[in-house]
Amino acid sequence: FSGVAHIPVVVHVVWNTAAQNISQAQIDSQIEVLNRDFRATNTDVGIVPAPFTGLVADARIEFALATTDPNGNPTTGVTRTQTTRTGFTTDDAIKSSATGGIDPWPADKYLNIWVGQLGGGLLGYAQFPGGPAETDGVVILHSGFGTNGTAAAPFDLGRTTTHEIGHYLNLFHIWGDDGTGCSGSDEVADTPNQGGPNFGVPTFPKLSCSNGPNGDLFVNYMDYTDDRGMVMFTNDQVARMAACLDTVRTDLNQ
Ligand code: ARG
Ligand code: ZN
Ligand code: CA
Repeated sequence: FSGVAHIPVVVHVVWNTAAQNISQAQIDSQIEVLNRDFRATNTDVGIVPAPFTGLVADARIEFALATTDPNGNPTTGVTRTQTTRTGFTTDDAIKSSATGGIDPWPADKYLNIWVGQLGGGLLGYAQFPGGPAETDGVVILHSGFGTNGTAAAPFDLGRTTTHEIGHYLNLFHIWGDDGTGCSGSDEVADTPNQGGPNFGVPTFPKLSCSNGPNGDLFVNYMDYTDDRGMVMFTNDQVARMAACLDTVRTDLNQ
């Protein structure tokens, strides 16, 4: 695409307790985070260590709650579904009304985001491009979604959704998903080779896989640090996401 891509979003709130029926303000706060993070206008980008600042990239992707539903009618871009299920896992049950969740809107035209209670410390998960339409999209724990309401530290800056949409647009974890080894790759040229995930908020430099002197790019959205520690995509990650939006997910850009 040229210029800026525009992606319509539908947020499916699937709630069991009243608290899980998150507010419109919490949803809006998440959309605002996405529009900062994917345009590199997030003010906390200032924490990027000086040797890495040249890698910071504007993904040129903007998000908005859908204004037209699949039938062509006006919509808020939010669905709300009460469920008897007290929690969901990565089994995609939240993505179907037959299993206590709600079906996606057509996945070629909308980014479906399901928000609900997840078990086992799971913050969220995503489906990579090219998978089945009926499960396409991202799933986010309500307390890791947005920046207000039920959002809880250290995952209360909306970065779980930024990270999962990275996967949805074909980005792998920055350490290459090979445990703590040095043979896995994220298939991105400008990210340093990295052993395993980083947690918390590391101090520069954090070395692994002989990647000195600058070490791991632990401020990247595709690492596992706390929300306040992940603040950037790289140029080559942006190119990978753009390639996805120009091919497999081309109809999403509206
Ligand atoms: N564990 C999840 C995944 O691998 C999300 C991690 C998000 N991290 C964060 N600090 N919000 O997709
Ligand atoms: Zn991930
Ligand atoms: Ca790499």
